[in-house]
Amino acid sequence: MSSSPVIELIREKLDIVDVVREYVPALRKAGRNHKANCPFHNEKSPSFTVSPDKQIFYCFGCNEGGDVFTFVMKIEGLTFPEAARKLALKAGVEYGDDRSHAMTEADKERLEIKKLLTAAAAFYHKTLFSPAGEKARLYLGERRLSKATVERFELGWAPAGGKALMDEMKKAGWSRDLALKAGLVTEREGGLVADTFRGRIMFPIRNQAGDTVAFGGRVLDPEGQPKYLNSPETVLFSKRRTLYGLHEALPRIRKSAKLLLLEGYMDVIGAHQHGVDWAVAPLGTALTAEHAGLIGRYAKDTVVMFDDDRAGINASVRAAEIFMEAGFYVRLASLGNGQDPDEYLNEYGREEFEGKLAEASDPLEFRMNLFFKGRKTPPNSQEKAQAIAVLLETVAKQPDEILKSEWVKSLASRFGVEEASVLKQLRKTVVEAPKAQKGGALRSVNDIPSIERDFLRLLLRDPSLIEAAALLEPDDFSNMLARRLFESMRALDPAERAKAPTALIAKFPDDATLIMELTVADLGGETSGAKTAYGAIRDLKMLKHLSLKRRVKELKDAEPMTPEQFKEYSRLKTELNSSAKDI
Ligand code: UTP
Ligand code: MN
Repeated sequence: MSSSPVIELIREKLDIVDVVREYVPALRKAGRNHKANCPFHNEKSPSFTVSPDKQIFYCFGCNEGGDVFTFVMKIEGLTFPEAARKLALKAGVEYGDDRSHAMTEADKERLEIKKLLTAAAAFYHKTLFSPAGEKARLYLGERRLSKATVERFELGWAPAGGKALMDEMKKAGWSRDLALKAGLVTEREGGLVADTFRGRIMFPIRNQAGDTVAFGGRVLDPEGQPKYLNSPETVLFSKRRTLYGLHEALPRIRKSAKLLLLEGYMDVIGAHQHGVDWAVAPLGTALTAEHAGLIGRYAKDTVVMFDDDRAGINASVRAAEIFMEAGFYVRLASLGNGQDPDEYLNEYGREEFEGKLAEASDPLEFRMNLFFKGRKTPPNSQEKAQAIAVLLETVAKQPDEILKSEWVKSLASRFGVEEASVLKQLRKTVVEAPKAQKGGALRSVNDIPSIERDFLRLLLRDPSLIEAAALLEPDDFSNMLARRLFESMRALDPAERAKAPTALIAKFPDDATLIMELTVADLGGETSGAKTAYGAIRDLKMLKHLSLKRRVKELKDAEPMTPEQFKEYSRLKTELNSSAKDI
């Protein structure tokens, strides 16, 4: 979170509760916080929480959280300076322009790259409708795209020459250096640069907020290679995190909580043209855990429908496993006639297509159907055993135990084998552990023992308690997260401490989610000042006591002890006895 006197002034003048309520009218007081259904993901009971004391918001469902600036950035899809300008206006504070002190150099550059990409998209789009774009227009017509669809997705044409875009951008005053950083031009031998996209139909790739952050380009010439070319990764664009069509699909997905994952650009565009406007696609990469996380934030019912060929089927099974590993439900669908969704929609229309979506099955059923589909005779015992062994890999990845046992049942009945032996075989199936996640997103405060958690909560609510906690050391916390958080709190200087948790988050962005979750949580029951202080002292003593107990046990377990260890053991034991009387 950026800070400057102007930003601080805006923060002081505005109440986050009022600002949030403008976007979330249903916000209601609940205890010391305010609650509502989350505006960032679809839910039926409110886990979105705003804390007037701390001037922050946090959603326990989707882990979105932050201060008033973050809220406006997220809900409106703005950059920090844009959100700040908006809030400055509301607060009646003079803010200044783009060159404001509040922007870092990196922020400024991102903004410039965004503007350049927007200009490039406009250039490609204009070129499509110029004489140079005639062939491309004809091609899009053959693909049955309407003018309105071409406009909506701002499709374009990149001339083949190799410098049309660079020349145009130069004329408009953009530097070669920025065009390189935007991925629009590419360095060739001898330090020369040429347009990255030449002789291609251009698909602007937008982020969730609708800004163009990259391009995909499709060749017209059937011999051209590669068929689709994407922008390189840039400061604005990460393929692993981007879904084509998400910006356009979000309004529908937010309403219905359903999402359709297709394989490519043309499928998404075709789907939207036919009114199936909840469709998105990854960008020529396998689905990533980041994609699944993004999708899971908005959708409860995700259907994956990739091309009806071997590659598409395999990719959809892999995608399903990624969803399951991320803890989300997913269903798989297939058109069954070898066509791409785009071709199918053009031939049979929306209703038939939606019929196919309705037939989507869970990942296990989908795989079982595949197995039985091509067979003329029932499988013999050995074929059954082999097939079940392979299918159990999918079962083992199902994190929901109820579903897992349902799957075991249906596997047994479909193959006509004993459920008990399927279960036995399942226990032998090892799942590779999902790769450890970097950063804080997937950790939960529920991993922290309740006594340590409650104490941290009190501390975040009233940071001055840290003075009273002088007897505690970070090792007194058994949980590593709690330990690190306590250390972080202690490391803040007293002035910063008063501004916890914002100061803490600024210093330890990796722990942001954790800090938010701890700060906003209700302590439950009565939370008057006196009770809180009393609770803190009790917790503190208890923490120390438990920590002593752990150390005593560790020494005891390490027997035989050295004389030094024994001395330490006796000392701790005495301390433990007296602490026991105190709690
Ligand atoms: P497909 O080859 O199935 O293309 O690749 P498509 O969507 O059917 O395209 P049309 O209908 O022939 O125009 C599916 C997706 O894989 C990525 C693209 O995102 C494409 O939409 N892809 C494909 C690449 O990134 N590079 C390639 O060379 C090919
Ligand atoms: Mn296709």
